[in-house]
Amino acid sequence: MASGRVSHLGEWSGGMPFFLAATGAAVGLGNIWKFPYVVGENGGGAFVLVYLFFVFVIGLPVFMSEIIIGRRGRQSPYHSLYILASEAQHSRHWAKLGGLVTIAGFLILSYYSVVAGQVMAYSVRVASSAFVGMSADGVLNTYNVFRSNPETLLAWHTVFIVVVCIVVSRGVKKGLEAIVKITVPALVIMLLLLMVYAIYNHSFLNGASYLFDFDFKKLIYARDVAGSFIIDSSGSYQFTFKGILMAMGHAFFTLGLSVGAMMVYGVYLDRDISIGKTTFFVAIADTSIALLAGLAIFPIVFAYGLSAAQGPSLVFTTLPIAFGAMYFGNVIGSLFFLTLFFAALTSAIALLEPSVVWLIERSKMTRVQAVVWAGGASWFVGIISVFAVSGANLRDTIFVITDFFSISDIDLGHRIFNLTGFQVIDGIVTLVLLPVGGLLIAVFVGWIMSAESSRYELNAKNPWVYTTWRILVRYISPALILVIFAAGLFEWVNKYLLYQPVL
Ligand code: PFF
Repeated sequence: MASGRVSHLGEWSGGMPFFLAATGAAVGLGNIWKFPYVVGENGGGAFVLVYLFFVFVIGLPVFMSEIIIGRRGRQSPYHSLYILASEAQHSRHWAKLGGLVTIAGFLILSYYSVVAGQVMAYSVRVASSAFVGMSADGVLNTYNVFRSNPETLLAWHTVFIVVVCIVVSRGVKKGLEAIVKITVPALVIMLLLLMVYAIYNHSFLNGASYLFDFDFKKLIYARDVAGSFIIDSSGSYQFTFKGILMAMGHAFFTLGLSVGAMMVYGVYLDRDISIGKTTFFVAIADTSIALLAGLAIFPIVFAYGLSAAQGPSLVFTTLPIAFGAMYFGNVIGSLFFLTLFFAALTSAIALLEPSVVWLIERSKMTRVQAVVWAGGASWFVGIISVFAVSGANLRDTIFVITDFFSISDIDLGHRIFNLTGFQVIDGIVTLVLLPVGGLLIAVFVGWIMSAESSRYELNAKNPWVYTTWRILVRYISPALILVIFAAGLFEWVNKYLLYQPVL
């Protein structure tokens, strides 16, 4: 059943630009910066396997659902859900789901930009041969000095947000589409070059086996801060859902789901283009690029006798040590950081777009005004993550703010305040907002929207595509998300939220 609605916000010139834009959104810091260290910390191949399961069994059906909502609603996530809920004669409160996903994207952008700013800074440093011949301690020290300086981090965060705002302010065709046509193919070519370099490196097999070797213990058993397994009083390991929840959260994050971006990209999509086929290829491209990044990074790490499980600083300390030591390290290093920058840019524009579209619709602003407001607000919230990167925990960060406003006497004696602001925002978004958003999107499209509407929008030639998708989206995805989410949340609440004063 046709909806008769059209997009007033712009449209892609065809299927290919949409594919590139969606791939650009999906492929980001999550693939190249986050995936390798999360894999490293959570059992290598065991994590990869669980993650792949989530990408294709939960992620892909939710991805298709988001495009269906956008293409049928033809408005911002908030207004599309409002219209579609009314059309299905259900509560208009579903619009709030559109609000929730938009806020999630906005929050991600706030810290994404701080990391991307560091990537820009490192592109310049590596290109200018700053690390050539430097010792490991020297590189580590350079990073510590760099990140402990909030002004520098803030400056690069600002530069990155400004670049993103310029692209988004130019609109769908002249901004989003124009940039992805260049950056996405360039990114793939550069990653392939890096991988060829890794193949010629004698540690390629070590790197590959690290990525694909299974260590289920690391995935399912709890460890303490130092990384040793926690043994309970009866002498056995303690099971944890954390690794599995993280694999699910990362599957949503990496595909760019639950933040409204794919809904908005669906708004600009012509009806003739097959949703099933394109989203499937985006998921394949995204997964291949994450694996490719792992295959390019780990061999370099091992070739220089470094450790892979370095946490978030893997890219900013471990790799520069290797770039400093290898022949043509400044060329290879620049190629790597430029790849990372392109990946971050095309993701960040997708993160900003839903808030911008919502402001345009709601406040009748021009696109440029909306970009200034949404980009500015995200920049402001990003300051919390600037402090986090420079080493302050949430307690210190809040004290800086309360001191500024001369507020005193607040009790921050809870363990959660020991985390950094980045860990808190990333935790709330990846472990809570993304799964909850994904669950509600699946429920909305599977149970609230009529079967005729979703079948019409999906427009699949092969009837099996629709049937399989519908079973996944109605039963399998919601059930799995609910169980894993609830179990993970229970553990998290136990660990951080039940009152545990700092001693
Ligand atoms: N998928 C991106 C990554 O893996 O880095 C992150 C992201 C981009 C999430 C765009 C959401 C989004 F809309």
